[in-house]
Parts: sequence; structure tokens; C-alpha cells
Amino acid sequence: MTNPEKITYTFIPGKNWKLSLAELLSLSKTRNYRFKVTSLSKSFFTITTERTLDPTIIDDLGGTIKIGRVISSISMKTVKDAFIHKTKSAQVAFRANLSECAPNQTSATPLKECVFGVSLYIEDYDLFRFSARIQRFIGSYFKEKLASSGTRARFMGFPRSRRLPQLTHVEVLKKELISKSFEILFCLGRDEGIVATTLAVHNPFEFQKRDMERPIQREIFSIPPRLAKIMVNLSSCSQGKVFLDPFCGTGTILQEALLARARVRGMDIDPWCIKASCTNLEWAKREYQLQDADYTILLGDARHLAIRIEKETIDCIATEPDLGPALRHLPTEEGARKIQRKLRPLYHDFLKEAHIILRDGRNMVLTTPYIRTRNGSFVSSSIKEDDATMGFKPVFPFNKEFFASTTPLIEDLTKSLSLIEIGQRHKIGREIHVFQK
Ligand SMILES: C[S@@+](CC[C@H](N)C(=O)[O-])C[C@H]1O[C@@H](n2cnc3c(N)ncnc32)[C@H](O)[C@@H]1O
Repeated sequence: MTNPEKITYTFIPGKNWKLSLAELLSLSKTRNYRFKVTSLSKSFFTITTERTLDPTIIDDLGGTIKIGRVISSISMKTVKDAFIHKTKSAQVAFRANLSECAPNQTSATPLKECVFGVSLYIEDYDLFRFSARIQRFIGSYFKEKLASSGTRARFMGFPRSRRLPQLTHVEVLKKELISKSFEILFCLGRDEGIVATTLAVHNPFEFQKRDMERPIQREIFSIPPRLAKIMVNLSSCSQGKVFLDPFCGTGTILQEALLARARVRGMDIDPWCIKASCTNLEWAKREYQLQDADYTILLGDARHLAIRIEKETIDCIATEPDLGPALRHLPTEEGARKIQRKLRPLYHDFLKEAHIILRDGRNMVLTTPYIRTRNGSFVSSSIKEDDATMGFKPVFPFNKEFFASTTPLIEDLTKSLSLIEIGQRHKIGREIHVFQK
């Protein structure tokens, strides 16, 4: 029996690489798409699989910026010799490696002219200084190669202010590089470099539309749709499952669950939010032609969920109950702890009820406040403590099963439990927990 051919893909994560990776691992498990993470860094991951990946998966992910198919790999020693030490033989070897890449020009007859892209993702700081030179080298190589088949080609430049020569996903979209020409991704890890061609890029305009064009918006309290999608994916939500957000607000998380074709249930204590969620979901149903959309929004108190929702009828929960008051100034550590203590009864009562209505073995994703303090430290909630989880087990988002045994891991990932999302200037961020009943 012959071994099935292995295919390698590279994923470029968003700013929060851990969140992006956790989401990818969770979605692939939900969809039964098997792969092993074969290399891991903060700026790209590669996965190896026996099954072709449908690149439109990018629209179902909130945290992936680009997906590329890997064409060849090259040792970092060759890259360093070619560009840092400028060794001729290494440069020849580097060119030979590139010659394995036949950029996928889509038309059968060569184009007269084309604009293509070359983007570099680098983990090794030694190479940062050389990134522009490497990008020009690769760009010139493909330019010559295309010229030899009659295509006048040029590769896209970058503003000088850009830290690395990388095209943004918006640039790739606007220039239609995937459909009309190509983008080369050159990803340099610690031991190995890979060359890939971009298959799909994140479309921020769809997320913006869901954020800004829905009829009812509420700036404070609302979660960004990209994060809402990540939470929905972490909850293992999929088509036909019964999904609940019991603190639904204006329905941002519900909207992403509806797009995943789940049967959506929402609840809020505020009647205005019930109306807002219904209006927004009706808009999403029209806008995304979800004729079979199934949703119900209930007015109620999430501390008494089991009165309104039958026992063990919910397949997945993703929710953001309360991140505490808007802060004008950074609190002291004691001030931050006081905020967390005040919220504890709400979380406690909700968890108790959630345990009743969730089916066995199913996931719940929950955010708690992650508070920056005056002295630069952060104060978390105490929800992970055994007595606080009300019988829920914490889920490790980076389970060993996802990684090839030879993949070097960074930051002892497999032991990390919660995921942090906080902007540099934010006083309160989110700690995202995944629990299983
Ligand atoms: C942080 S907001 C959720 C925001 C929501 N994810 C969105 O993007 O619109 C929390 C919501 O919980 C609701 N809420 C507060 N206490 C509640 C309770 N005990 N039961 C149900 N809803 C509650 C508030 O009315 C508010 O809309």
C-alpha cells in the first residue's frame, strides 16, 4: 500500500496568535479535519495533512489572516549563508529551491502583464535587517521567470514605514492577487524556511459590515465580531447544534453562531437587548440569505436559566456576562480584586445553571475580566479554581494530540488554559475560558 500524499499548509495568524491557533485547532476538530501542526511560531504555523483543505474555511475563522499552500522548504542555514554571509553557493541553492515553485497564474495562456506579491514572515531577529533584500531577491527571481515566458511582471512594493515587507490581506484582496496573479509567502522559522503561495485571505469587510451595518449597534459592551466568531468556534458550534448566549446584548455572538448554521438561542435581562438582538438577527438572516435560520431570543435572568430552558438541551454556549465598570483610570491591585470579587456571584450563579442546561461532554466558552493595574500587573478572576467552576472541567486549547511529536513548542503551550485578549492601551481585557461539562 502506498502512503497517501501529505500536503502542507501555512496559516498566518492575527495579532493574537494563541487565540488564532486555538480557534483553528478547535474548528478542525469540530469538522473532523485531521492534521498535525508541524511547525509553530508566533507569525505562522504549518500543518500537514492527507486531505485537501478547502480555502474558504478562512471565512469561518475569525483569527486567520492568510492561508497558503507550501511548495518547498529550505534550511535556515542556507538562507543565512545566502543573505547574511552572502555566500555564492548558498544563493545558487536558494534560487534552485525557488525554481520548484511554479506560481499559479490562472489563465492558460501567459498574461502579457502581471503584478504579484512577495511577503515575508520572520521569526529569527537576525534576519530582520535583511528582509527587504530577501524580498527583492525572491521578487526579482519570479519577475525574470515570468519574463522568460513572455509576461511583463512586477512585484508590489511597500511603504518604508512597514516593519517587514509584507502585503496586508486588504492589499491582496484589493489587487485581486489570488484570482489574477499570485502572492508568494516566505516564512522563516527557527530551523526551516518555507515557500508557499497564498490560497485565501481574511476578508475584513465582511466583519466590518456585520459590525457597522447591522441596524442596532451599541459601542460599549459589544464584542468585536471577529472575537465573537473565535468564541463560537471554541465552543465547537456547528450546523444544526443548539447554541446559547445567555447574556446576548445586541446579538453579536448569536450572529456568528447563526452564520455557522446553528440553532440559536439568546437571553438577556434587558428588554431593549431582546428587541436589538431580534432586529440584528433578522438583518443577518436577510443579508446572508439564511432562509432556514432558527433563532429564539428570551427575556430572562441567566442566574435562573433552568427556569426558561430545558435541562440538557443546549449543545454549546459562548458568552460574555460582564466585564465590570468602564474605568477612567487604572485601578490599584486591590481595586481590581474588588471588581473581580463583586462579579463573582453573577458568574457563580450562572455557571451553576449552565451546568444544568448543557448536554454532557459539551463546551462552554466564557470571558472574564482581565484587569490591568497601576503597577503594570494584571488581576484575573478566580473562576478557574475548582470550587468556582461548578463541575465544569477546563479544556486545554492546545492539546498535545494536535502537534507532531517533533514540533518544538513555544511557551509550554500545552499547559496553558485560558487565552488572554487585551489591547496595549486597554484597562480591561478579556480572559477567555473553555470549559466542558
Ligand atoms: C457584556 S454584555 C454582552 C454583549 C454582547 N456579547 C454583545 O456583543 O452585544 C452583557 C449583557 O448581559 C446582560 N445581563 C446582565 N446581567 C444579566 C443577567 N443576570 N441575565 C441575563 N443577562 C444579563 C446585559 O443586559 C448585557 O446586555
